[in-house]
Amino acid sequence: MPFKYYKDNREFIKALEKSGDLVTIEQEVDWDMELGAIVRRACEKNSPAPYFKKIKDYPGWEAFGAPMSTWRRLNIAMGLDPETPINELQDEYIRRITAPTIKPVEVSRENAPCKENLLTGDDVDLFKLVAPMVHGGDGGRYLCTWHMVVGASLKAPDNVNWGMYRQMVFDEKTMCGPVLPFSDMGKMFYEEYAPIDKPMPFATVIGMDPLSGIAACAPAPYSEAEYTGQLMGEPVELVKCETNNLLVPAHAEVIIEGEIIPHVGIEEAPFGEYTGYRTSPRAARTVYKVTCITYRHNPILTVSNMGIPTDEGQLLRSFSLALEMRKLLESQQIPISGVYMLPESTHHLVAVGVRNAYPGIAHQIGHLVFGSKLAPWFHMVMVVDDKTDIYNLNELMHDFSTKLHPSKGIHIYKSHVGTPLYPFADPADRKYGKGDKVLFDCLFPLDWPLAETPIKVGFSNPDIYPLEIQEKVLSSWKEYGFKD
Ligand SMILES: Cc1cc2nc3c(=O)[nH]c(=O)nc-3n(C[C@H](O)[C@H](O)[C@H](O)COP(=O)(O)O)c2cc1C
Repeated sequence: MPFKYYKDNREFIKALEKSGDLVTIEQEVDWDMELGAIVRRACEKNSPAPYFKKIKDYPGWEAFGAPMSTWRRLNIAMGLDPETPINELQDEYIRRITAPTIKPVEVSRENAPCKENLLTGDDVDLFKLVAPMVHGGDGGRYLCTWHMVVGASLKAPDNVNWGMYRQMVFDEKTMCGPVLPFSDMGKMFYEEYAPIDKPMPFATVIGMDPLSGIAACAPAPYSEAEYTGQLMGEPVELVKCETNNLLVPAHAEVIIEGEIIPHVGIEEAPFGEYTGYRTSPRAARTVYKVTCITYRHNPILTVSNMGIPTDEGQLLRSFSLALEMRKLLESQQIPISGVYMLPESTHHLVAVGVRNAYPGIAHQIGHLVFGSKLAPWFHMVMVVDDKTDIYNLNELMHDFSTKLHPSKGIHIYKSHVGTPLYPFADPADRKYGKGDKVLFDCLFPLDWPLAETPIKVGFSNPDIYPLEIQEKVLSSWKEYGFKD
């Protein structure tokens, strides 16, 4: 049975407008930093998403900024009540992605709005598309910041990947950007195509429906198109590209087709990154040669402005990486109460709640998650008692400050896999994507005598206030004169 979902970004924009989660900007804005600055400030203030109706030099083009940078917008994208708590959103998401996968369906060109306009041959010119200068100091204009790149394995062509890999415009027919070697597309390109000097067909999709965007961002263990189907509860509609055999979401705004060229690099970056810093230097990066562009009438570009939290990359990666960790820890029968990756930490810090069932349980969690495929994206794991509300920053801070032993509770794991983007890493470690990790064990040791184990003094601890007292106080709260 299909869930409530939006077939394209236009329906999603309308839903956000209705719920008060969108600001429509009618006055003209400049693609050269003004648009980016508005999106940045909206992220930092948790404002509604800006929808730009008029962009300097680009009549007919519109832009949609910060599409999913708040929990409210993620809930709306999932067809849920905007105020759904994070743990309920997690449960619903897990329910969907653990149901049987749903294969996509192919639709004809006539039923694919992304084919309304076509540029091929000499007409291909990326400067006809509104690529913003997202941040001051960026190495160029970034057309693709909230998009997905579609690519297929050479050895197993049915293995098709959707992922987000930023792309900067280099010239009329060329884009460039980093593809990290541990990403799914990195593995395909560097391990299958490049060794035999074969260009890899790609299709960049801009302005796909929100659930396809969530899937592209997620560390999906199988086809993101089927994963999208699970999130939708019915097949996602795809259409064949004009110049290669790849299939792309039929209702997207813009499709850029071409080939990724092996053994050449074009200088890309610097760029304002998800860590909230400009870290990685200008360097030769992956090259995308463009052969064809298709787009809808009055296309709407989606723009993510990465920087100080919270943007959609931080929010969505925090969300989906935590869920994969939850699945991993549950598969090993670790008695966890939940996993929460804090978007405010740019997903560098993960809180895991666990029943303190046996000595060494925090280390077991540390080894499992640091040893997983997800590890490059975070370096701090904090293990807390299952009675701590992991979604409550105050409670986490209290455990961190009171239960973490400064020498016995902090464990460093050296020379792990990292990314070149870690601001704290020295330049050599950044160059090679090395990253140390740290485990904060915020559990009281089990070998302490019970009588000498400190007791938390809180309203909801039944050892402090019996349940009948708690219930009486809760039910009389407003009568006492309190508002909330
Ligand atoms: C907005 C955004 C931009 C990203 N940019 C890049 C990038 O430029 N290069 C990269 O390798 N990964 C980038 N990522 C991370 C990948 O998209 C991420 O690995 C994604 O989950 C794809 O997973 P997969 O590679 O395991 O399929 C970005 C993620 C987001 C949300």
